[in-house]
Amino acid sequence: MAIVKATKGAISVAAEHIRDGRLVAFPTETVYGLGGDATNGKAVAAIFEAKGRPRFNPLIVHVADIESAKDHAEFTPLGIRLAEAFWPGALTLVLRRSDKSDLCDLVSAGLETIALRVPDHPIAQALLKAAVRPLAAPSANRSGRVSPTQAEHVHNDLGDRVGLILDGGPTAHGLESTIVDATAETPVLLRTGAVPAETIEAVLGQSISRAVDADDKPQSPGQLASHYAPDATVRLGATDVHEGEALLAFGPEVPATAGPVINLSATGDLIEAAANLFAALRALDQSDVKKIAVMPIPKHGLGEAINDRLRRAAAPRS
Ligand code: TXA
Ligand code: MG
Repeated sequence: MAIVKATKGAISVAAEHIRDGRLVAFPTETVYGLGGDATNGKAVAAIFEAKGRPRFNPLIVHVADIESAKDHAEFTPLGIRLAEAFWPGALTLVLRRSDKSDLCDLVSAGLETIALRVPDHPIAQALLKAAVRPLAAPSANRSGRVSPTQAEHVHNDLGDRVGLILDGGPTAHGLESTIVDATAETPVLLRTGAVPAETIEAVLGQSISRAVDADDKPQSPGQLASHYAPDATVRLGATDVHEGEALLAFGPEVPATAGPVINLSATGDLIEAAANLFAALRALDQSDVKKIAVMPIPKHGLGEAINDRLRRAAAPRS
């Protein structure tokens, strides 16, 4: 039985799961989250796999309090004001990622920024404290389905894809957190959610600019932080390596080359490959080469999201 009542004992078992790199679904005041250790690339890759997400969107990282948040992000004065006013609560802040943060690259899709929130829910808080890990947690549903507000919804949707579901009854809001970019002094609304924009404006005494329209569609995709794009050009489906290219390899059979090579997974494991993807792209980009050749990557499972990301990295830039 995957659903367990969130007793003290169950929460410490769940915390073990998290520290072992496994996934746990847990209630927050907004919706149920599918949580994994945000410092563990494989755990974060497993979240994408369980959700069947065809893309690597950056995920929200949950922490116990503002002090823990400061381990991962550079707080602007605006960020401090918002955190003090709304945490714990249903406001997520996008902030510049701190150099000392040990969050994995996949959780922020290789971006220089990170989305953080402190949940206002006793079970989420107890799990964060027991696991002593920041928790990456998107809503605990399969990609394209509605967000779960009860433990049964998670079970119906994800079934065996999640080992443990902590049952804390129905969630209070039933709507995801509001996301605000607080990297500069002007707040930008990135996603509408449980905290109305007007409430934030009233607290700040300042209007908030909107990167989203009423239907939550980005007004201009350029307004939203784009995914990390390497400086080097990217050549996909490479079965050999040209002069001057670095190689992003996959699997046991790697073509010979004198240039830099990083293998995403020598055993051909897509979860391992996803966990390594952004750090590998970044590392090859920082080597002296101007071109990165990428070996073919299978398209099943997480391979779909990996290939999506690589196609974006290879697309011509304006
Ligand atoms: O209510 C919630 O926020 C729920 C519960 C479980 O806490 N969590 C949730 O997380 O909705 P998630 O990971 O699905 O939210 C991801 C969204 C992305 O689609 C993106 O819009 C935004 O958060 N996001 C994450 N990191 C970002 C970043 N660095 N820059 C801009 N947006 C970011
Ligand atoms: Mg969702």
